[in-house]
Amino acid sequence: MNINLVKKEALDEIDKAKNLKDIEQIFKKYLSKKGKITLILRTLKNLPENKKALMGKKANELKNLLKKVLEEKNIQFSTKGQKDGLVKKWIDVTAPGIKTPQGHLHPITQVKQQIEEIFQSMGFSISEGPEIETEYYNFDALNVPKDHPARDMWDTFWIKEIKSSPQRSKLLLRTHTSPVQARYMETHNPPLRVIVPGRCFRYEATDASHDVQFHQIEGLMVDKNISLANLKGLLEHFMKRLYGESVVTRWQPSYFPFVEPGLELLMRCEVCKGKGCSTCGNGWIEVIPCGMVHPNVFKAVGYNPKNWQGFAFGMGLDRLTMMKYKINDIRLLYSGDLRFLNQF
Ligand code: PHE
Repeated sequence: MNINLVKKEALDEIDKAKNLKDIEQIFKKYLSKKGKITLILRTLKNLPENKKALMGKKANELKNLLKKVLEEKNIQFSTKGQKDGLVKKWIDVTAPGIKTPQGHLHPITQVKQQIEEIFQSMGFSISEGPEIETEYYNFDALNVPKDHPARDMWDTFWIKEIKSSPQRSKLLLRTHTSPVQARYMETHNPPLRVIVPGRCFRYEATDASHDVQFHQIEGLMVDKNISLANLKGLLEHFMKRLYGESVVTRWQPSYFPFVEPGLELLMRCEVCKGKGCSTCGNGWIEVIPCGMVHPNVFKAVGYNPKNWQGFAFGMGLDRLTMMKYKINDIRLLYSGDLRFLNQF
């Protein structure tokens, strides 16, 4: 076999090799156990002495050369392969990302949190009560016994009695947060200051300012020497904190069986600025019914009305929210319509 021919042939093939697989084949063809160069080396022994040395040298040189060249090609192709892979995997880190939509708090929750902060800064704690309430806490404990005509003030969703487990007191969806007044006083000793945010339900026709579900924040303060002046001062201060100094409010007398006297804080409608509109009617909107806690309520929870006075209020969170953002229909707050909600 002519070594020079083999050399030329091998180098030609290496030159034409396109990838790692070709390189592997060439290695096999020339350098493996049955490869051409291996064969040459193996047949050296048959040559005459004088040729053996020269051929042996040449064959070994070629073997080393091919090894070196194949090695270089091998490196060249494998880094190229890596590079090709990298091009495919390349990520454009400067491309704008896909924006994940981010939710936010409902306007009612936002205003609720603001109100909670204001009252907490005045030493009030926060408590909660059940939405499914007993007739006793929703009415009886609040000086509204059965057959009291004032029960008509609250159109009630009653819950069907389960025959097998007769309730001592009938169940209903609470019509206001006031039952938590009684629950809280039963479990806490005076003096106390608490607010109770929560959802309420009334079985009535809906319009721009009424819905079957709505939110109240009840307030209760019991101490010695508490007067109506404290109540009025506190709520007027609260309104300024929530709406700013320019808020316009007025008081009017009212009636609730669990307070005496009862009154109501009204604010000038923010939607029409007091001109009168479909939201308020005559330019004013009732936002905080309140009054001095009735002695019968103290008696029902085991407080001695001779030792303690207090006031209570039950503000309408939905209306306060509507006034804050000039929303003209309460039903929008419960629509779940994102076109509406995303404005807040
Ligand atoms: N619970 C009353 C209502 O929903 C409001 C109220 C609360 C009035 C506390 C006076 C004192 O109508």
